[in-house]
Order: sequence, then structure tokens, then C-alpha cells
Amino acid sequence: MNLPNLKEARKRTNNDIVIKDNEYELTDNQKAIGLNKKYYIKTYGCQMNEHDSENIKAILNEMNFTETDKLEDADLIILNTCAIRENAHNKVFGLLGRIKHLKQTKDVLVGFGGCMAQEEVIVDEIRHKYKWIDFVFGTHNIFDLPNIIEKTYINQKQEIEVFSWEGEVIENLPVKRDNKYKAWVNIMYGCDKFCTYCIVPYTRGKQRSRLPKYIIEEVKDLIKDGYQEVTLLGQNVNAYGKDLNINYTMANLLEDVAKTGIKRIRFVTSHPWDFNDDMIDTISKYENIMPYIHLPIQSGSSKILKLMGRRYTKEEYLTLFNKLKEKIPNVSITTDIIVGFPGETDKDFQDTLDVVAACKYDSAFTFIFSPRIGTPASKMVDNVSLEEKEERLQRLNQLVNKYSKENNDKYLNKVVPVLLEDYSSKKKDCLKGYTDTMKLVNVKADKSYLGKIVNVKITSVKTWSMDGEII
Ligand code: SAH
Ligand code: SF4
Ligand code: F3S
Repeated sequence: MNLPNLKEARKRTNNDIVIKDNEYELTDNQKAIGLNKKYYIKTYGCQMNEHDSENIKAILNEMNFTETDKLEDADLIILNTCAIRENAHNKVFGLLGRIKHLKQTKDVLVGFGGCMAQEEVIVDEIRHKYKWIDFVFGTHNIFDLPNIIEKTYINQKQEIEVFSWEGEVIENLPVKRDNKYKAWVNIMYGCDKFCTYCIVPYTRGKQRSRLPKYIIEEVKDLIKDGYQEVTLLGQNVNAYGKDLNINYTMANLLEDVAKTGIKRIRFVTSHPWDFNDDMIDTISKYENIMPYIHLPIQSGSSKILKLMGRRYTKEEYLTLFNKLKEKIPNVSITTDIIVGFPGETDKDFQDTLDVVAACKYDSAFTFIFSPRIGTPASKMVDNVSLEEKEERLQRLNQLVNKYSKENNDKYLNKVVPVLLEDYSSKKKDCLKGYTDTMKLVNVKADKSYLGKIVNVKITSVKTWSMDGEII
């Protein structure tokens, strides 16, 4: 048993990133474990988790399990969980209730992974109150799933494998991608920023960049497989390379990925701190780097930003924002905002509204502050009532939506490039896709257009999506 430990997870001592390309291995016995068995996987949280699930699926496929989208049909259920806010926890516990019932009616193995598995309190709860969960695996333990599953079948007792170390980079994991036209590509793992409210540096470990050669190879392979778009993934992509000590930055990486010729390049998430001029120049220089930037501000109050440990003031953020708007033609910028951080006064909240009005974001994800056990902000004095926070969130959302609609309105009757990636879930006889600026468009088109980038004339506009016709 390897239990999570937040104190260990906080440490940043090892300067050398350990890159391993032979850590994941399957024995013949492990390849037979899944024969005639089905797995069901439920993924919560951000793109990192989505992509981890693509690795988990490929591992289970290599063990000869087949996927099912029906919980009730599964012989193996995996939860890939998120710890970012309390409501992410609640969703997971809700599903656990259903799974417990199912387990009383059939033989099914249940595995609990992801960021919640890295939290001491959660694993403690699982050990004492959820003894029927068969195995728990951390974000650093995915490569070891075949061993963990094998051990669980043999020993028939709860297995817990959660490493709380700084983390290493495992290069040889298989991947089964959910989308045929656009792909996630990890460029780095973990985060060293330690914003005071955030659990991610604890659940994902130290910042570890992948070596450029592995990333470029992956993108080239994706091109060969017909992929049109890659999204470079990291909690903090602008800091890419800083830990490698090879004098190679995010700007260099963007340039090298652009030169592979892949049609569309995106990247998330950008922390304002590391967004330098080289990066801006590279983005504006290459047509295949999309004019779309997710630039979380978190708060418009410099006082709150300081308490959050974000390392920039409102003014510095605005300077960067304006530079991006000026240097990258047609750029769309989105953000994340937290309301009700401890100590946020009406005046601080008004600062946030003012910045939103100044930036007129294309869209924004907005959250009420959720104290995460073990983070500094969870111990700060918080004297704003939940009622007040909810009211602030509502006011903020109204303003955010107003600008989303106004920005979208500018697209009416314009012709924009859209990568058609799937059937529309909302409109019959339509495909859906995204513009270069990350606007969702439903387009009247048959399936022969799937996977193609087409010019679309926008015929109607709503707050969260648009409709259009191929021209
Ligand atoms: N690495 C990204 C953010 C990842 S988490 C970045 O730094 O921008 C996604 C978003 O969740 C954050 O931007 C923040 O707005 C929100 N978030 C993180 N911790 C939170 C907490 N404790 N309470 C409320 N929102 C939180
Ligand atoms: Fe969390 Fe801050 Fe790291 Fe983003 S940069 S993952 S908000 S600690
Ligand atoms: Fe959630 Fe972990 Fe992502 S906490 S947001 S799944 S890094």
C-alpha cells in the first residue's frame, strides 16, 4: 500500500527530471486479464484528465478489455476524478452511490484514480467508509495499472497505489484517442506555481516538461494519421522548458510544432506570468497557430491577486492583454475567474467587474472559491457569506454573457474557417466544429465533411454557439 501524503507532494527538491521510456510493460498474463470483460470509464475535470483517460483506455485495451458506455454492463469500472472544487468531489460521490448498488448485484471491479486519489482525506475516507472500492491509483501511477489490476484480482483486498513524489515523465504509454481529427498532446506535467487556492501542484507534482523531440515526434505521427489539430497541454504551458535546462522555451516549441505543418495548433493553459514577447511574436508569425488564448485572470483586484499568489497585478495583466490584442490579429481571449476569495470586498469584486468590462472576454469560466484542504487559502479568514458569493457570481455571469454575445455578434455574415469534427448534438442534419478562434458552430453539412476545415458563412449567432453554411 502506498498512501498519498500532501506534505510529500508539496516538496520541490529534485532538480533533475527523470524521463523514462521503458516503465510501462505488460506480461502475457496481464494481456489475458481483460478477455471477455468490459470496462466503463468516467472522467471528470480538465483536459489533462481527459488525456490521461485516453492512456488508461489504451492500457485496458492492451489487457484485452473492451469498452462499454453502459455502467451496468461493466466488469471493471474506473473513475478518473478531479479535486479542483468541492462540487467535483460531490459528483464523484454521487456516482459511487450508484456503483455500490450495482456491486451488490454483480461481480464488478471498481478502480478510483485521478486527482482525488492524491488527496489524503479522500483516500482515508475510501479506506474506512468505501472498503468495497477495489483499487485506488494516483496520477503518477497510471503506467502501473496492469500490475495494480492483476494484484487486485489475485489478492482480493483493497489495493492503494498513490505516489506523492514530485513525479517523473513516462514516455511509452499507449494512447487511444477519443477524436479522429484533433488530439491532445502533453507538453508538460505538474505545476510549480502554488497559487494559494489551488490543489493541482499537490495532485500533479512538480513541473516536468517533456523533451521537445518526443513532442515533435508525436505531432508528426498525428499528421500521418490524418489529424488536423493538436492542443498542447499543460497547467502552465508558457513555462514550458524552464525545468529542462536546455535553453529551449515555449516560443521555440511553438515554432517547431508549427513547422511540422499540422493544420491547427492550440495550447492551454497560459499563465500570464510567463507570457513573453517571443511567444507573442511566434503566435502572430505562424498561420497554423490559432488566434485563441485562454488567459486566466482569477480576480481583477491586485490585493486579491496578491493573496492568491498569482504574481501579477491587475495593471500588468491588462498590459499583457492589450499587447496580445494588438499583436495577434483577430485574437479571441477567454479567462477563468474566481469570486468570493477570502477577504474579497465589494470594492475588490467591483475591480473584477471593471476588468471584465475592459477586456470584453470572448467567454469566461467563473467559479465560487472552494477551500481545498492543505492549501494556504483554506486557512485564510473568509467572512463573505455564501449567499453574497452566489449573488456576485450571478452578476459576473450576466456581464460575461453580455460580452460573449457581443463578440459573437461580430461574426454574423462573416466567412470563417471551421474544422468539422462531429455530428451536431443540437441540430439535425448538421455537423459541429470550431472556428480558428474557438467558437462553436453548427453547420449544415453531410458526413463527408467530417475532419475537414471548411469556409463557413455565419448565418445566426447565440451566446454560446453559432449556425452557419458552407460556402
Ligand atoms: N493551470 C490553470 C488552471 C487550472 S484549474 C491556470 O493556472 O490558469 C482551472 C481553474 O479552476 C482555475 O483557473 C481557477 O479559476 C479554478 N480554480 C482552481 N482552484 C479553485 C478553487 N479552490 N476554488 C475555485 N476555483 C478554483
Ligand atoms: Fe493551479 Fe495556479 Fe498551477 Fe494553475 S498555475 S494549476 S491555478 S497552482
Ligand atoms: Fe481537476 Fe486535476 Fe485537472 S484537480 S482540473 S483533474 S489537474
